Formats: sequence, structure tokens, C-alpha cells
Amino acid sequence: MCGIVGYIGFRSVSDLLLEGLHRLEYRGYDSAGIAVLADESIVVRKRAGRVSELAALVQTQPVEGTIGIGHTRWATHGGTTDENSHPHVGGNGEVVIVHNGVIENYDSLREQLTALGYVFHSQTDTEVVAHLLAHSYIEQLKLVENSDTHAAALKAVEATLTRLKGTYGICALFRDATDTIIAARSGSPLVIGVGRDEYFVASDASPLVGYTQEVVYLADSEIAVLRRDNMSITHRTSGSVQPSIQTLEQVSSDIELGDFPHYMLKEIYEQPKTIENALRGRLDDEEGTAVIGGLNLTPQQLRSIDRVVLTACGTSWHAGLVGEYLLEEFARLPTEVEYASELRYRNPPITERTLVFAITQSGETADTLAAMRECRRKGHPTLAICNVVGSTIAREADGGIYLHAGPEIGVASTKAFTSQVTVLTLLALYLGRMRHLSYPAGKRICRELRQMPEKIEEALKCHDSVKEIAEKYAGFDNYLYLGRLYNFPVALEGALKLKEISYIHAEGYPAAEMKHGPIALVDERTPSVFVVPRCGIQPKVISNMEEVKARKGPVIAIACEGDREVERIADDVIYVPEVAEYLQPLVCAIPLQLLSYHVALLRGCNVDRPRNLAKSVTVE
Ligand code: AGP
Ligand code: GLU
Repeated sequence: MCGIVGYIGFRSVSDLLLEGLHRLEYRGYDSAGIAVLADESIVVRKRAGRVSELAALVQTQPVEGTIGIGHTRWATHGGTTDENSHPHVGGNGEVVIVHNGVIENYDSLREQLTALGYVFHSQTDTEVVAHLLAHSYIEQLKLVENSDTHAAALKAVEATLTRLKGTYGICALFRDATDTIIAARSGSPLVIGVGRDEYFVASDASPLVGYTQEVVYLADSEIAVLRRDNMSITHRTSGSVQPSIQTLEQVSSDIELGDFPHYMLKEIYEQPKTIENALRGRLDDEEGTAVIGGLNLTPQQLRSIDRVVLTACGTSWHAGLVGEYLLEEFARLPTEVEYASELRYRNPPITERTLVFAITQSGETADTLAAMRECRRKGHPTLAICNVVGSTIAREADGGIYLHAGPEIGVASTKAFTSQVTVLTLLALYLGRMRHLSYPAGKRICRELRQMPEKIEEALKCHDSVKEIAEKYAGFDNYLYLGRLYNFPVALEGALKLKEISYIHAEGYPAAEMKHGPIALVDERTPSVFVVPRCGIQPKVISNMEEVKARKGPVIAIACEGDREVERIADDVIYVPEVAEYLQPLVCAIPLQLLSYHVALLRGCNVDRPRNLAKSVTVE
């Protein structure tokens, strides 16, 4: 959560920071602010609310300069007020910082600093870092030769970091070290953009796109000192680091809305393409298997695996549930899907024959990262299924599979889910073909997977009917989402989508489980969304639909074209193309994404920036 951006160079920094903050706004939008170093003084503009409100403030109170830092906040400590907005100034204005993360020991540090006479203007944990840094800087100035402000600034950062417990990505400007930005991270991401006589720093690469393609991903415990004409990186314990410059593949159109009104809709419509990207070069039709290059494990090692653990949060966890069914069916591998937030604190019996996968769109989710680190600490190879290239999880994993879905900006995950399910299908096929899955079955799966981009295109044709159905149901305040087997995780995902962007209470359940409790919720005002395409146990799900109808509950069904039986019972039907059972999550997810989108619009909600949420949850 939270987006950080910084710039040192020759461009007008306010505009650049504001543009960067707009691009990062999906990470947090409680408040926004910038600090610019101008004429040896630090000028701060900040306010609660969206980046557009900050932009309006900067328009009325312009600030000129070529060095600055900015922040868009997802509040963890202290309300969403102007005072709590970043940047935060330390001491008597010696330093200003922006911070992403949580300082766990902020309370005791605040007490110590208050005793030393520092005055706090906010309720944030971040302000202690600002004052600590100022305090340390003043002390270091006395110790360094010739009162060298640059040396004192770096030493102050090093000293301050040793006092912090928690997670941080920090950028700091020092009033007297006029041509420097210092950035440091532990737990929260930072990427540096390398230009000619200019450097950028940001929480992710989006603010850099269009300015530079050369990037350096800062690692935990690294501190970067950026000057206009050079950059140096040191590791807090092992000293100087040779920066590894990588090339950014993102292009401007990836992060632009184009003709779409919202990123969520744009991303829903990208799915034929993103699924094609997930499959590209990964199907071996001849051998009837998948080609997965980056696992960094030998075929012998992969064959000796006797259990799989998939760990993730939110939507990625739902994709993991589909993965469980796939891995068990294709590869006969016992699979467990663990909430990363639980796994990290448990002591699960993972053996050397267990394969652990972290599934994550952003590659930065704090719980998923911690779960992955815990497994690696115990010596188990831990792989990632990840979208963001260069993210912390992608870099720390022992290997893995990229989604290649392009940036997902809408806070509600859509295309990442279908790409994750596609990649998990490839994985199940690959591991399956090393075990019991027959050659003809492998060939059939390759063929069926190849058709998926087209099938998704077809599924999108339900858009108009979904829109009409949304109009009919947008006023209801409680929903049930029900499905079985492969479509149970889809029901969970459909309910999550509705909750997060419409603020409607929705519960996902295995359809048959409904009669063990949730059926008590059914009445005329509680619609049930049944995910019920043709499959082996469809008659059972149809019986569940009858049970809901018998209790006057409205029924919306996601079903295959021409399914008279479903049409007879359901009040409204949304049609999806017929595909093999194991591929149904891909087509059935589409109408549910669209349904939540339209219900949210009708209720006047901000679909791309739902309240209280942020795109990547980089705090615990
Ligand atoms: C999805 O719509 C959510 N916003 C959220 O549940 C998300 O899937 C979760 O935070 C995990 O994120 P990740 O995939 O980036 O790790
Ligand atoms: N913990 C800090 C705050 O609440 C930073 C949160 C963030 O990462 O945006 O202000």
C-alpha cells in the first residue's frame, strides 16, 4: 500500500511527481502530498483526498524545483487527515520523508523523541522516522569531517534504520544536502529509474514509463543515494553494491485507459489477450504437455514431489483453490491451499518432497512474501506464480512462472485471476504428464487450452445482458454466490468482487453446503447467483436452485447456452460458452466480474478505487 515517487534531475518536479502519483494512486488514495527542495528550503504541499485534489492545491500554490518526493497514502496509523498526509517533516525542517509500511515500535520511539523536545504534528507512525532522522542528522553533522552534509545525511539514514522495527520503503530529502535523494527499503518495494542526468525512484515502475527503461530494483536492507549524475547503493551489512540495471518492458499504453471508462472494464476486456499471453510458448501439442521453463528444478526433482502447497491472499487464494482441484485431478498430487497470513505463523509439516508456490499478482503482498520466506528459511524450494516482473516475490522465489498479464491497475483483480488459473492449469498438465496423465488426455488438454482466448471473447458477449440484470438487482443488499467443484472458487471470487467494489454483503459457498446454514438467509430480498454450467454434478446444483426458489429467493444463473432446465428455474440467466469442466472457472469468472462492475456503477461506487482498499497490501 501507498505509492512513493521521487525525482532528481532537470525537469519541473511538481508536474512529474503529480503524474507519478496519478499512476500510483491505485496503491492508496487516502491522501497525497509532495515535497520539493527549492532554494535550500523544503516546500511541502499535501492534503487528504485524491491526487486530483493535491493537483488543485499545487495549481493555486505552485512550487518550483527539480528535486522532490511524493506520496499517495493508504492509512495504517492515524486518520485520513491533512496532518497525517505524507511527506512528513523532521526536526526543524532539516529533513522530509515519505514512507510506505508500518513502524511497529513507533510508540516507544515517539515517547523518546517527545522527551527530547520533538513536537509531533500527526498521529502517524511515519513521523517518528522523520524526527529520528533529523535528530540523527544533527548528531552526525558534528562527527563528520568538515560538516559534510552529504556524509551526515547518509550516516543519519543508516543510524535511523537500525532503530526501526517493521517495514519501510523510505525516500528522504535533506534541506542542506541539496542535490541528493536517499532511498531505503525493508519489506516495501522501491525501484530506481536510471536516466541521463536524472534519477527516479518509485514504489513500482509505472511512474518511470515513458521516461526511462533502465531500472534497478532495490533489495531489502539496501540504501540508494541518488544525485543528478550518479547513484550509489550500499547494503546495510555487506557494504557497497554493484547495481544490476534491468530493462523495463512496460510501455505507456499498458497503463493508459484508452477508450474505457475504468481500468476494471479495460482489464476485463483484456482477458482474451492476457490468457493468450499466459499460454504463449507454453503448450507442447506434440507431446501433449506444457513447457514451463523457470521452475529451476530438474525433472527428477519434480517427479519426486508428493505434495503441493499453494499460498496466497484474496483473489489469488481463490485461483489457488482452482489449482488444488486441477493438481489433484491431473497430477494426483495432494494439494493444500493456505492463506498466506495463516501459513506464515503456523508450523506446517512441509517436507523436502513438498513443492510450495506463492501465488500473487503484485509480488509484493506482505503476508504472501512472509509465508514464502518462512518456507524458504526451512530450506524448501519455494516458487512463485506472479504477474509483476521484478517484484520482491518474483526476485526472492527459487523459480516460478510469470503471468505476462501486463499491469493490473483496477484494485479489484480480474485479468490476474484468469491468468493465474491458466498458469495453474499448465502446471497441473506439466506435473500430470510426468505422472499418471495419459498422452491422449494431455493432447486434448492442450487443444482445449488453445481455444480459451476465443472462448473468453465469446463469454464477453454476455455484457449487455449482465448490464440489464445488474439494473434489476443493484438495489439488493445481500447476495449468495453458489457453485460446486471447479465453480466453487468462482462463487467465492464472484462474492469477493461484489463486496469489494459495491460494498454489498455477499457470501460464497459450495452450493450443497448452503442447506447447512446459509439457506436461512434466503428470502425475496436475497438473490442467489448460481454458477451452474453443464457438468457431471449439475443436476445436484439444479436441486439447490430449486431449494432457493421454494423459499422465494431470486435466482441468477450462470449457465451454458440453451440450458432449458436452468432457464426453467432461474429468474435470470447469463450465458457462457460450453467448455470442459476444468476450464469453466475461466469463462464463468467473466459474467461475475461484469456483474459486480455494473452493480457498483449503479450504486455510484468508484470501481477502480473502492473505499478502504489498496491494490497491493504491503503491510501485515
Ligand atoms: C482482489 O480483488 C483483491 N483486491 C485482493 O484480494 C488481492 O487479490 C490480494 O490482496 C492479493 O494480492 P496479490 O495477488 O497482489 O498478492
Ligand atoms: N504507516 C504510514 C501511515 O499510516 C504509511 C502508510 C502507507 O504505506 O501508506 O501513514
